[in-house]
Amino acid sequence: MEAVTDRVFRYMIETYAPADLYFTEFCCVDSWDTPGWSVSSKRLDRYPNETKLIAQIWGSNPDKYYQVSRYLAANNYQGVDINMGCPDKAVIKKGCCAALADNQPLAREIIQAVQEGAGNLPVSVKTRLGNKSDQSEIWVEFLAKQGIDMLTMHGRIAKDMSKYPADWEKIGRSSVIAKSVNPDIKFLGNGDLLDLDQAKHYIDLYQLDGVMIARGIFSNFFVFSGKKGTKSELLKVAKKHLELFIDSNQEYCLRRYSSFKKFFKMYIREFEGADQLRSRLMTTTTPEQALDLLSDQETLASP
Ligand SMILES: Cc1cc2nc3c(=O)[nH]c(=O)nc-3n(C[C@H](O)[C@H](O)[C@H](O)COP(=O)(O)O)c2cc1C
Repeated sequence: MEAVTDRVFRYMIETYAPADLYFTEFCCVDSWDTPGWSVSSKRLDRYPNETKLIAQIWGSNPDKYYQVSRYLAANNYQGVDINMGCPDKAVIKKGCCAALADNQPLAREIIQAVQEGAGNLPVSVKTRLGNKSDQSEIWVEFLAKQGIDMLTMHGRIAKDMSKYPADWEKIGRSSVIAKSVNPDIKFLGNGDLLDLDQAKHYIDLYQLDGVMIARGIFSNFFVFSGKKGTKSELLKVAKKHLELFIDSNQEYCLRRYSSFKKFFKMYIREFEGADQLRSRLMTTTTPEQALDLLSDQETLASP
């Protein structure tokens, strides 16, 4: 998730409630070889010991996809994922991401460029049921024919953004189509999952290889462990995240403190006094102030 799953947050998840696989924020390849790459490439930042990390890229220029995929292969990522699902109006206007469902020739060129550049790394695509309408049957068949290793399907079309619930039946049907064309493909479903019970239900019902959970972590940081955190656990992780944010931001200046505050909504919830504490945290102007507040709470909470 853009502006959410940076390396610090991935470290938090991996340490306290690990997932099986992580994706970077989506990184635009088109600025490769230009001064803009130093900013775009921050989205690929990783800790050297991350071993379950797939880099996600997007853009419009197949040659840049090739160059960036070579770079990713040389830098120990575990795979390259092509974003063909983002519904943002600005990217759709450029013909990128979900708009590629309407441009199979370019989608094919991009996939081939990534496969060539990525060498032995697995290549995957994340997409939607379609762009302006449900194109899933032809779109999934087309994608699976390109010999990709994994396909993640978000169960909505781009035009609808998140207006309607994700259509898991269509995700299930897409998996059948993909596997009938390419039996080795791994197929993941995505959309509206809040916990592991729901995830397991859909995996079993539609014989999926797995699911991707994104916003579910906003309502439960521990979602991948299948448990809910206690007040003291939540205070502890909030503090740890802030400390890492402070340390890493000296070299990683992409994120401002204001953008960190969304994490308070994730950690400071569903315990006695959470609403008041969160309101106070939201008015802080530096991470150090927030750290002091959290430390006071921890002292009060300890027996
Ligand atoms: C803040 C935010 C940022 C996102 N950034 C990305 C991204 O960089 N790449 C991507 O493939 N999807 C991105 N998504 C979409 C999610 O990966 C996911 O497909 C979508 O939220 C639906 O799944 P969910 O219901 O589990 O959240 C983003 C979603 C949100 C809310």
